[in-house]
Amino acid sequence: MLTFRSPAKVNLFLRILRRRDDGYHELASLFQAISLFDHLYIKLSDTLKLSTSIPGLPTDDTNLVSKAVRLFRHKTGLEVYPQIHLEKNIPMEAGLGGGSSNAATTLWALNELTGHPATTSELCAWGAEIGSDVAFFLSQGTAYCTGRGEILQSLDPLPSQSLWIIKPKVGLSTKEVYSRLHASSLTQRNPQRALEVFLAGKPDYFNDLEVAAFAALPLLSNLKNHLVQQGFSNVLMSGSGTSFFCMGDHATPSIDAASIFPVNFVNRSDNSWY
Ligand code: C5P
Repeated sequence: MLTFRSPAKVNLFLRILRRRDDGYHELASLFQAISLFDHLYIKLSDTLKLSTSIPGLPTDDTNLVSKAVRLFRHKTGLEVYPQIHLEKNIPMEAGLGGGSSNAATTLWALNELTGHPATTSELCAWGAEIGSDVAFFLSQGTAYCTGRGEILQSLDPLPSQSLWIIKPKVGLSTKEVYSRLHASSLTQRNPQRALEVFLAGKPDYFNDLEVAAFAALPLLSNLKNHLVQQGFSNVLMSGSGTSFFCMGDHATPSIDAASIFPVNFVNRSDNSWY
């Protein structure tokens, strides 16, 4: 069995630009991998077998790991049937990209186990067929993403940063949050400018999906206010929620009924995994 770490991500800023004719939304976002990891244990076998550490988590064809295996087989023409155990630590319905990361990690692992039939950019292009965030997880951990999230501009690692991830018990599906978006709640910020300013060391953290998620679950707005009152310099929802990341020189946040994870930004080096 080989072990591969599968990181979570946060969106340091997330601008939604417009709804497209195919139902997806055009976005522009600075994605960053963080040191909250699922673990994927994998070996080649003669039948596909997927198990997870979470009872009740579907392990059938709907699981993004199974989809990644099928896709890899289809694209390479190789008859690969791995045995995989997925140890989940990244909360689900949290906006942290756990499922997409698991799919990307599966593609990377299968490519390793079969002697590298694909380049990383091929894996990236294939991954985008499974989910909008999968391509990001095949970058080196910091990327400005556009399109529906699958068009990547890879960036050098940002200065190291520690942060807290706060995940309330409730979750939200990405689809539901996007379906509640109204053009009037979108910021008018220029994302290219936001990126320049960010890279110049004057970060501006914002997320156009907060308003829609707060409308779906008003307790998220209370949670954010509560965290802001505790004195963090930045408190922002990640992706479509429901998790928040908090930055600032501060003791452990004090929040009831939420999971709290201390993490750092993380990047991988060229040609090696996390
Ligand atoms: O691509 P993925 O399967 O992760 O997206 C889940 C859902 O989130 C989509 O079905 C769509 O409703 C919404 N979405 C969107 N625009 C994006 C990404 C996701 O509307 N850029």
